[in-house]
Amino acid sequence: MSRLIIVSNRVAPISEGGPAAGGLAVGVYDALKETGGMWFGWSGDVLSSGQPQIKLEERGPVTFATVSLVRRDYDQYYRGFSNATLWPAFHYRADLLQYDRHDFEGYRRVNAWLAQQLVPLLREDDVIWVHDYHLIPFAQALRAAGVNNRIGFFLHIPFPASQVLLAVPPHRELVEALCSFDLLGFQTTPDLRAFCDYIINEAQGTVRASASGPLTVQAFGRTLRASAYPIGVYPDEIAELAKAGERGKPVRTMKATLHSRKLIMSVDRLDYSKGLVERFRAFERLLENTAALRNKVSFLQIAPPTRADMHAYQDIRLQLEGESGRINGRFAELDWTPILYIHRQYERSVLAALFRTAHVGYVTPLRDGMNLVAKEYVSAQDPENPGVLVLSRFAGAAQELEGALIVNPVDVDGMAEALAQALGMPLAERQARHRDMMVQLRENNVSVWRDNFMRDLQNVGGAKRGRGAKGRGAAGAERASGPSGASGKKAARESVTG
Ligand code: G6P
Repeated sequence: MSRLIIVSNRVAPISEGGPAAGGLAVGVYDALKETGGMWFGWSGDVLSSGQPQIKLEERGPVTFATVSLVRRDYDQYYRGFSNATLWPAFHYRADLLQYDRHDFEGYRRVNAWLAQQLVPLLREDDVIWVHDYHLIPFAQALRAAGVNNRIGFFLHIPFPASQVLLAVPPHRELVEALCSFDLLGFQTTPDLRAFCDYIINEAQGTVRASASGPLTVQAFGRTLRASAYPIGVYPDEIAELAKAGERGKPVRTMKATLHSRKLIMSVDRLDYSKGLVERFRAFERLLENTAALRNKVSFLQIAPPTRADMHAYQDIRLQLEGESGRINGRFAELDWTPILYIHRQYERSVLAALFRTAHVGYVTPLRDGMNLVAKEYVSAQDPENPGVLVLSRFAGAAQELEGALIVNPVDVDGMAEALAQALGMPLAERQARHRDMMVQLRENNVSVWRDNFMRDLQNVGGAKRGRGAKGRGAAGAERASGPSGASGKKAARESVTG
């Protein structure tokens, strides 16, 4: 069996028996453990001086290979082009898009440098699976280094409609770079459709359907395959986690705070794509319209910080703090604060247990590739007495979770009505909706996502392909020049565990 090489901007090391990590991390790590392989990416460290080092950490059949970034690369590749250009554009926020040609150069330079770090670690029949928008030029960079292995790419965020993508100045270079992969995976059919539309109408390429399996795309002199692979969760594991936490301290504390009030709950990184301000206003509208619900319902918003060194994120934080203060000031009573807004991270086991306590899961992003919180909320429910999911039509999850109350996240009145409907929904209807959604979640769990992608990636290109580059193994790993011109030295290899 080929070795699997996962490449993602962030590498999520998993401690055995530790708190469950995100669905993606668990699913990918499972695949790695089965096939043996490597997870390669940024360590999360930013160096203010010195040279970036590659660090190798063995855990059973899996090697974690991480590199730090120097400040300039972090600024141009991560904060700059990835998160100030691509992230807003791909989430349909062209109004927030910032573009600097030097950042794009930095983005390509870091991709090329990361690829150079990986090349010496590769073996001839490795299968490489690259994740997310930070690494769009990664296959192109590997190909330039002579790597012929199968390389797949999965985009975790939406792929925007052509008219939005055109707002990113180097849109053509990006799509051309995507065409260096052998297989492209998108979260949903609308994302796949948007990509195909660009290929046909902007790149003058072709897209052909086959009887089964991914589409065949021809553009920029390359032939590749593309399909939608909606990412899932392990619903039964989440249910168990939630049940196990039912008697835990966080849930007891929450219940004591609620008394007999109902709970509406949301969990999101504090990102402007999540529709948090509209969501707060819809909760306000609910209280405004339905006096009987005042002091009878609380809204818990957990919004851990993210990319806090960027202006757009500082702005949304200020805005949200203003809104929660205003709404609480307007409706709070001596024994009731309507919105409990927490700007902190909680362990997934605690979140799962709290989801089970919540009568409504309130998941209303303006745009989201999938949104696993929606799937986790449903999974965590007690089937005998489940809560109701209120879900944005612009979350990828809305393509699958038909048992949710689907809302438009800019329609404050519509969301307030959906909240009222959710809070008053009869038990039989809640049970039926929950049952249907669990069937869907079990059928398309995270193993299915991973296996479907890996099957299609194994099948591309037909004949076995060699790497082409001279057979340098991991043992001969040498560090190439740093992305910002740092000179090459022997790679520092730290073997942490056996
Ligand atoms: C989204 C992206 C991921 C990213 C995560 C956290 O889910 O799709 O690639 O890792 O946000 O963002 P951060 O910038 O902290 O890595």
